[in-house]
Amino acid sequence: MTITIIGTGYVGLVTGAILADSFNQVYCVDIDSKKIESLNSGAIPFYEPGLAEIIKRNTSQDRLKFTTSYSESIPTSKIVLICVGTPTRENGEANLDYLFTAIEEVAQNLKEYTVLVIKSTTPIETFEKLNEIVKANTQVPYDLTSCPEFLREGSAVKDTVAPEKIVIGSSSQKATDLLLELFREFPGERIICDLPSAQMIKYAANCFLATKISYANAIANICERCGADSKVVLEGMGTDPRIGKSFLNPGVGFGGSCFPKDLKAFVKISEDLGVNFQLLEEVLKINSAQIDNFVHKITQALGSLEGKKIGILGLAFKPNTDDIREAPSLKIIDQLLSLGATVCAYDPIAVASTQKVLGEQIEYKTSAYEVAEGADALLLVTEWDEFKELDLVRIKSLMRLPFLFDGRNLYDPQTVKSLGFTYFGVGRG
Ligand code: UGA
Repeated sequence: MTITIIGTGYVGLVTGAILADSFNQVYCVDIDSKKIESLNSGAIPFYEPGLAEIIKRNTSQDRLKFTTSYSESIPTSKIVLICVGTPTRENGEANLDYLFTAIEEVAQNLKEYTVLVIKSTTPIETFEKLNEIVKANTQVPYDLTSCPEFLREGSAVKDTVAPEKIVIGSSSQKATDLLLELFREFPGERIICDLPSAQMIKYAANCFLATKISYANAIANICERCGADSKVVLEGMGTDPRIGKSFLNPGVGFGGSCFPKDLKAFVKISEDLGVNFQLLEEVLKINSAQIDNFVHKITQALGSLEGKKIGILGLAFKPNTDDIREAPSLKIIDQLLSLGATVCAYDPIAVASTQKVLGEQIEYKTSAYEVAEGADALLLVTEWDEFKELDLVRIKSLMRLPFLFDGRNLYDPQTVKSLGFTYFGVGRG
């Protein structure tokens, strides 16, 4: 099948690469000519395990192409997948400008019946407007469908190759059949439903996951005050299959380009529909309070941070990505700097992306040991695997003071205390 993908972000690029790998002819279109140039020269715009190999394999066999031109492939494509961003506006709602511009361009290039698939996360009423735009720009028959995306950064390839579910929101049997054919080789439950339900599944899922995290953080805060160990409490609670153990890890809160954006948008969507979804506002409040709580712990232990040297381990919003959008690290660093501390940091992958945002406000190091040198405190902010393997005896010997603030509960409190650290986890009694 010839397929066009609009947008070469995480969703578009990974989906395009995987669909090419299952022997479709895929064209990835982006209006950013620099990005397309660099993709054509073999560079990948972000770090995602396993993606570079798949892109290389498929570009070398001409099954995957990158272009700025809508007219090159849309006339011959059976399916066009739109994967552009829907960022947050000032008032919390999703900014759909990229989506509307993209669908207009797509419509102008249609030549025969095509299935238009929206993978971007969109408020429910968006499809009405999308249909209006398409109809105003073409007479060619089409079906507009919603296939929300559930991949996670850092495991995007695995999640796309082996999804748990494929959601197809459509009112057309013809479009549904074509999409079932496109995804036939992929495992996972098929959820065939109407358009509003498909879009709601995405928002409801992301908001629920974020709620789980904030619940875990709230429990951890109570554990801290009553002397209980949140790890034991949350694991104990998670053994109930109705609850489950995943997404109950307390820490410095959730970040990334999805949860904060989708929560704000869903609060606004609910409000517009006359529903006051205050629970989600609390989820956001608890999340941002986690940063304040963490920094408060540091100032309580160290006193004034004026002139103190603080080392940060991990900058990415989570491991296995170089993405720092809404990363807790940035908010923590901001507070530390305004309290007069000097900050140095190391991340296995995300130093370059952080440098673009923070510039020379902090110092960048090439290992955790360099960060520890002369530090008054170490802050573990992203739980990269390599931090589990650190020689903590060496780390402590390099530090000026032995304060270890573990923002992801990566270390065993008894072990690190026995090594002489003054240890603070999240909700560890
Ligand atoms: C999230 C969803 O998990 C995906 O299913 C969805 O497709 C994606 O958003 C999206 O909407 O595009 P992602 O943002 O890549 O994926 O990352 P997650 O693995 O969900 O982690 C989000 C944040 O929550 C991270 O900052 C992570 O550190 C934090 N987190 C996660 C916790 O603090 N505790 C946990 O127990 C789990």
